[in-house]
Formats: sequence, C-alpha cells, structure tokens
Amino acid sequence: MEINKLVLATRNVNKIEEMKELLSDLEIEVLSALDFPELEEVDEDQPTLEGNALKKARYVHKVTQLPSLSDDTGLEVEALNGAPGVYSARYSGEHATYSSNVAKLLNELSGMENRRAQFRSVMALVTATSEFTFEGKVEGVIVENERGDGGFGYDPVFKPIGFKETFAELSSQQKNEISHRGLAIQKVLDFLLANSQV
Ligand code: IMP
Repeated sequence: MEINKLVLATRNVNKIEEMKELLSDLEIEVLSALDFPELEEVDEDQPTLEGNALKKARYVHKVTQLPSLSDDTGLEVEALNGAPGVYSARYSGEHATYSSNVAKLLNELSGMENRRAQFRSVMALVTATSEFTFEGKVEGVIVENERGDGGFGYDPVFKPIGFKETFAELSSQQKNEISHRGLAIQKVLDFLLANSQV
C-alpha cells in the first residue's frame, strides 16, 4: 500500500498545523476537512474512543475517497472507573467549558486518595482497503488545584508521572514529547514512513 495523500478529519487549525509540520519530511500531501466543505459534522456518539475515531475516519474516507486520519482523546480517572473517558469534552454537561469540566473533576475527586489518571488518544486511519488504529497514552495524577497557563482542557490539573509540573506548566514542546497525542502521532508517522515514498 502506498499513501501519498491524506485527509485529516478535523477543522481544528492547531491539529492541522501540528500534523502538517510532523509530516513535512514525507512525500504526502496533507489535506483536511477545511478543503472539503461538503463534509458534515460527525456525531461522536460511540461508546469508545476507537469507535468515534473510526466513525469519523470512515465518513471522511467515504466522502473524499482518500486515506483519512482522525483522532479521539479522553481522560481516564481510575477512582472514577475510567470517567470522564470518551465523554471528556462534555463531562459537565451540554454547555461544558474547559473550566467547568475541570471544576467538576476536582469536585468528584475531592477527599479521594487515589488520584491516578491517564490521557489516551486513539488515531484511526481508513484507506480504500484497510483500517488501522494507533494508541498513545500517558499516566499521571490529578493534582488538587489548577496550576499553569499553557495547554488546554484538563492540562492544569494533570501531572504526568516523573514530572513536578502539570501539563499546563510544561512548554508545548515538552508536552508533545510525552503526551498521549504526541505518542499516537509518532506511531502514525512510523507507519506512514514505511508506507509512503520518502
Ligand atoms: P478531542 O477528542 O481531542 O476533541 O478531546 C476531547 C476532550 O478531551 C477535550 O475537549 C479536552 O477536554 C480533553 N483533552 C484532549 N486532549 C487533551 C490534552 O492534551 N490536554 C487536556 N485535555 C485534553
């Protein structure tokens, strides 16, 4: 199989820029949902990260007829039996914001000793003949109070194992080297390197 074009199943310009930069050494033309106005929003209604990632990539592949790559991420907290997990974006309700989600998480964990958690990202690649998924995860703990201004989402309360800082206190480069999404993207890159003309 040879991949020389790839559609990113997102309109998030940060994700698009990041992937374009990472793929810049490969002979792959990187497109995104922004290049296909006919693409509709996909309802992320599956019970797993894998399910949502595959659903998005399958839809984009069906419409564009090109290899398509999507991702879905969740924060899995041990003491909450894996919640918020696949519901991380909407944890505090329909009109959830990053800060209302963090507030709910700290509230749920208040007084709890077990604060272990992991971020998990799943990327799905769908081509005309095959489907692949790639997973990246990073383990850490949920700290008691928000710290740092960087990143987004749950970053101010997630402290990766082996670090004193939360994700929001690390530089984006430091975060990308160890993060769930960074590790998943690395696996995709290795795969594409082996399946494209360099
Ligand atoms: P998505 O699948 O990338 O849209 O992520 C779903 C939700 O998980 C986001 O709305 C954030 O709340 C959270 N999330 C994803 N990635 C990160 C991250 O790197 N740091 C903090 N929160 C994240």
